[in-house]
Amino acid sequence: MRCSAFSVPFSVACSVACSVSWGLLTLLAAVPQSLSAQPAGGALSAAQQLGMRLYNQSCVVCHEKPQITSGQYGPTLSKDSAGGRDDVMRDVIANGTPRMPGFKYQFEPSQIDAIVAYLKTVPTPPPAAPAPAPR
Ligand code: HEC
Repeated sequence: MRCSAFSVPFSVACSVACSVSWGLLTLLAAVPQSLSAQPAGGALSAAQQLGMRLYNQSCVVCHEKPQITSGQYGPTLSKDSAGGRDDVMRDVIANGTPRMPGFKYQFEPSQIDAIVAYLKTVPTPPPAAPAPAPR
């Protein structure tokens, strides 16, 4: 499980990670990429790798759980996010939502495209909680 990788050398980060703050963005930027989400396997194109790097720097803070005991602010992202539509993903990333900042001043359109290309390699996550067994 990818979360476990976060719990290792993070005593400093843990105290901070409980509150989602913008300072955490800087903190996460220093995390080696090997600790962050891995795609479904196979080699990524250059654009997808760029997208993964940007995602790991700017998005995991809200879209993944920093550690098993902390909350997650935004939905888990995958190729099915935003209805699986590239154009909607691009719009959300550029312009944000009421609860998510837009990134159009931070990223070039080509960088946003790269993030979308990366998200398209991320498999659909399993449901958060297993459904109760049928009786
Ligand atoms: C401050 C926290 C935060 C950050 C940082 C953030 N997001 Fe989000 N994002 C959210 C929240 C919360 C939502 C859910 C929509 C809402 O409630 O407004 C969301 C929704 C989305 C969605 C739509 C998901 C769906 O299926 O509807 C996409 C795609 C997305 N974010 C991509 C990104 C990407 C890519 C980045 C990094 C460049 C990013 N987000 C950074 C909080 C964040």
